[in-house]
Amino acid sequence: MAEDVLLRLDRVSKVYKVGAFGGRELAAVSDVGFEVRRGEVVSLIGESGSGKSTLARMILRLTSVSGGTITFDGTDVSTLGRSYYRQVQGVFQDPFSSFNPIFPADRVLTMIRDQFFPRAAGWSERVAAALEDVRLDPGQVLGKYPHQLSGGQLQRLLIARALLLDIRLLVADEITSMLDASTRIDVLNLLADLKARGLGVLFVTHDLSLGTYVSDRTVVLRQGRVVESGPTTQIFERPEHPYTRNLLASVPRLGAKWADEAAPTGLPDGTPVVTADGTGNATGNVATHVTEEKA
Ligand SMILES: Nc1ncnc2c1ncn2[C@@H]1O[C@H](COP(=O)(O)OP(=O)(O)OP(=O)(O)O)[C@@H](O)[C@H]1O
Ligand SMILES: [Mg+2]
Repeated sequence: MAEDVLLRLDRVSKVYKVGAFGGRELAAVSDVGFEVRRGEVVSLIGESGSGKSTLARMILRLTSVSGGTITFDGTDVSTLGRSYYRQVQGVFQDPFSSFNPIFPADRVLTMIRDQFFPRAAGWSERVAAALEDVRLDPGQVLGKYPHQLSGGQLQRLLIARALLLDIRLLVADEITSMLDASTRIDVLNLLADLKARGLGVLFVTHDLSLGTYVSDRTVVLRQGRVVESGPTTQIFERPEHPYTRNLLASVPRLGAKWADEAAPTGLPDGTPVVTADGTGNATGNVATHVTEEKA
């Protein structure tokens, strides 16, 4: 269904100039290709330094592309103006860096109104609806300064901002890595909600433990190259590449109680994970929601 493809990367590469006077070159991303469709969560996984953030930054046009093309809705993104950001937004690992500490955090929402919807009627109702969508209580966040909010609240505020823009693709780079277990589950459920609304989500992570529960397809990156990609269940059950098998070896067994595992990496408090069918078994049925269950 080609018309469903939102984002397409075709042989995308990135070379950084490094060393004194930029005399050396580092191939951070080489010949990467994949697609994100409407209503699809795609996980981009790989060890630290494998080029995930570089790809996310190229997709968001925060850094230039050295080779290949990135298209959104069939158009080369390098030709698009600011309107691109009405459709595509990013949320990053460290939400604090997206906020100016001297202004209330919800200024990120006001700026959207001033930039894109100066004459919009019913703005406060729209803000209230977007906050409700990301499960934030307006009374708890409006008027608060960034240091008065948690990392998870700030990340959800950024997602609310993306919703106000009515975006079609969200690039989420390591958004769960600094969150505690229950907030992490909230944010993952939120991604599942975005998917249900028909958004495409690129979920970047080096931690395979939880994000993969909400993803339809997985792209495995190593040293800037795709080593394998396919349906998430297939990658988890029958990883073809030894590198993927190694990445998976550090993940608690799917369906097992986290507390039973020798080295749980995802939920330090031993919270079990229950999939959509309630079995905790993601086989053949990618979870649409991750729920918290008190053991
Ligand atoms: N601005 C830059 N200038 C030079 N080299 C860079 C720059 N940004 C990243 N790199 C290098 O490019 C490679 C890929 O980095 P990148 O940040 O994309 O990795 P990553 O997969 O996101 O890693 P992590 O999981 O640690 O976030 C690394 O070797 C990194 O040192
Ligand atoms: Mg990164």
